[in-house]
Amino acid sequence: MYIGILSRSIQLFSTRALFRAAQSRGHRVRVFDYMACDILVENNKPSLIYGVEPIPEFDAFIPRIGSSFTFHGVSVVRQLERMGITAAVTSDSITRSRDKLMCSQVLVNEGIGVPNTYYSNGADDPEFILDRMGGAPLIIKLLEGTHGVGVVLADNNKTAETIIETFAKTGQKFVVQEFIKEAGGADIRAFVVDGEIIASMRRSAMEGEFRSNLHRGGNAAIYHMSPEEKEAALKACDILGLKIAGVDMLQSERGPLILEVNASPGLEGITTSTHIDVAGKIIDYVEKVHKEKSELSV
Ligand SMILES: Nc1ncnc2c1ncn2[C@@H]1O[C@H](COP(=O)(O)OP(=O)(O)OP(=O)(O)O)[C@@H](O)[C@H]1O
Ligand SMILES: [Mg+2]
Repeated sequence: MYIGILSRSIQLFSTRALFRAAQSRGHRVRVFDYMACDILVENNKPSLIYGVEPIPEFDAFIPRIGSSFTFHGVSVVRQLERMGITAAVTSDSITRSRDKLMCSQVLVNEGIGVPNTYYSNGADDPEFILDRMGGAPLIIKLLEGTHGVGVVLADNNKTAETIIETFAKTGQKFVVQEFIKEAGGADIRAFVVDGEIIASMRRSAMEGEFRSNLHRGGNAAIYHMSPEEKEAALKACDILGLKIAGVDMLQSERGPLILEVNASPGLEGITTSTHIDVAGKIIDYVEKVHKEKSELSV
């Protein structure tokens, strides 16, 4: 097979791991920087220009779209789909998961646990929001944040009000969320490929920190999920239509609460802490969908 990886750089751990896994299975593989792809919309012949050339016709591709490049990245994925190339993760499912608020709206509608979350355009009445959310402690979170940046714990109402006012003044989109204290500064990451949890880890925050992000000094260890946690993770992927995903959840008194479903989950933390060949399993899946698609078209 000829596999394309849409990624900003071959230097990224996950991209390199996927590249090697594809190569070791005898595939031809190439990394394309999706930000260097131009889209040509024409009747009956959608095409994609890479540099100044039409992009090579690979058989299947794995999108690794960074959250800051969602609009362009998703547009490129959509174009490749229109060109009939097998996508390991579809453009629609990336769009649904990228918008964190939309993601929790969709999941909660299907009975999946999520932390109670308040979103307001402008948030010009912090006192009302605090009252409605039951007061501090509360988490205030930028919707565009990543790696724990823009996630703040307000342990009293005065602090919460000040943070809400500050975020609102800078014109950023944010949510106010119940603080899940009993999660104890840890979260669970389930790595899902094709409706199966292939690896899972528990990330714990460092001393004095509530955010378990590895970028914030948290550490990760292999973790065996409960049946309830597994069910929530798989159901979330199913609802969003994601075949490859990292599902993050908090352990609460009322069961697992899903924080986020990541459509381009990093491979480094999960591979290092579980020693599972996650990249290999992704390539196995790409082989499988491509085979199914080829059989359908003969
Ligand atoms: N409501 C909450 N209650 C308790 N802890 C929370 C809550 N929300 C987030 N956290 C902690 O903060 C960490 C960072 O939050 P979150 O994952 O929502 O943002 P992010 O990591 O910046 O975004 P992304 O996951 O998209 O990179 C979580 O991993 C979790 O440990
Ligand atoms: Mg996170």
